[in-house]
Amino acid sequence: MTTDPTTQTLAQLGDTTPEKVAARFAEVRARFDADVSRQIDPSEWTAFLAQWTGRKSGALTHIGENWLKPAPKELKPVVGQEFQKLKAHVEATLEEKRKEIEAAAEQAAAARDQIDLSLPGVERAIGTRHLIRQTFDELLRIFLSIGFSVVEGPEIETPYYNFEALNIPEHHPARDNMDTFYIEGSSAAADKRATAGKYLLRTHTSPMQIRTMEKQAPPVRIVVPGKVYRRDNPDSTHGYMFHQIEGLAVDTDITFCDFKGTVEYFVREFLGPKAKTRLRPSYFPFTEPSAEVDATCHVCGGTGCRVCKFSGWIELFGAGMVNPAVYGFLKYDPEKLSGFAFGMGVDRLAMMKYGITELPLLFQNDVRFLRQFP
Ligand code: PHE
Repeated sequence: MTTDPTTQTLAQLGDTTPEKVAARFAEVRARFDADVSRQIDPSEWTAFLAQWTGRKSGALTHIGENWLKPAPKELKPVVGQEFQKLKAHVEATLEEKRKEIEAAAEQAAAARDQIDLSLPGVERAIGTRHLIRQTFDELLRIFLSIGFSVVEGPEIETPYYNFEALNIPEHHPARDNMDTFYIEGSSAAADKRATAGKYLLRTHTSPMQIRTMEKQAPPVRIVVPGKVYRRDNPDSTHGYMFHQIEGLAVDTDITFCDFKGTVEYFVREFLGPKAKTRLRPSYFPFTEPSAEVDATCHVCGGTGCRVCKFSGWIELFGAGMVNPAVYGFLKYDPEKLSGFAFGMGVDRLAMMKYGITELPLLFQNDVRFLRQFP
């Protein structure tokens, strides 16, 4: 590596005549011109500047120190002139170069930030109401249109509301039909009427019959949507949780005809004007008489098919006239009051109406299933 001439004096370099001095400066200028004409990345710029104009060890400083200062008297004017020329050239060129680099950096940034208005947008999928929600909406719409109002109640219940006040005493076989999830609660925190301080997950929405009639004097006309829980073995039609809508109407003059009329109106609204209704005797401790409400099969229209097991009928829900024994748990006069109640499985109704055979599909939230019900 040849030593940098600017770190030596002109005398050391042997430049003893004005011509030689001029040639030496010309050489530096050529080196600078070559150096500055290459492409300089913005990140290199500071280092590049320092190399030529840096106060301590830039080439110009070296030249001032090593060439100009120690120059003999007779050469000083030449060296001074040449030095000024070089300095002016270097500074002007660097200023040009600086502008060039800045402009290039700005352009690159602008290109990076540019928004391409012709690019297609990102499509955001919009969800739909869940089929169960849609079915609830439809059911509630029907009952609201005939004067029922909506109330909701707790999913954690006491045996009193879930069983006793509904005329299902302890050891009653009807308790076994509804395999119950019990929750241990401290007796202090437990409701006073909870048996042995136990809580449970409500097995049906019927406890809200009691809670409503406890709070409200007749007439009562309510529907209760909500979740209920049973220790069923999960399969294609059973899960640990499902949805119900309870209905209750109590007043001084409600007859079996009102009950039947309401049920028939509901079935026609929900399944269409051609659907027929049938009441089959059944048993619930809190209704007397009790009935299973059937409708003509939505698939075959009543002629018989595989879906209705060739009976022409599909079971819809349980219902009945309120058992006067229930009023005994309340400040309701069984001599003056009468009413009807019903409790329907919303998931069942949705499956039936939309031809779904697998209950778990309703809870897996697979969009391929959900988007079929926009
Ligand atoms: N609670 C009952 C059940 O879950 C349904 C029902 C409600 C029956 C109201 C009659 C009256 O099976």
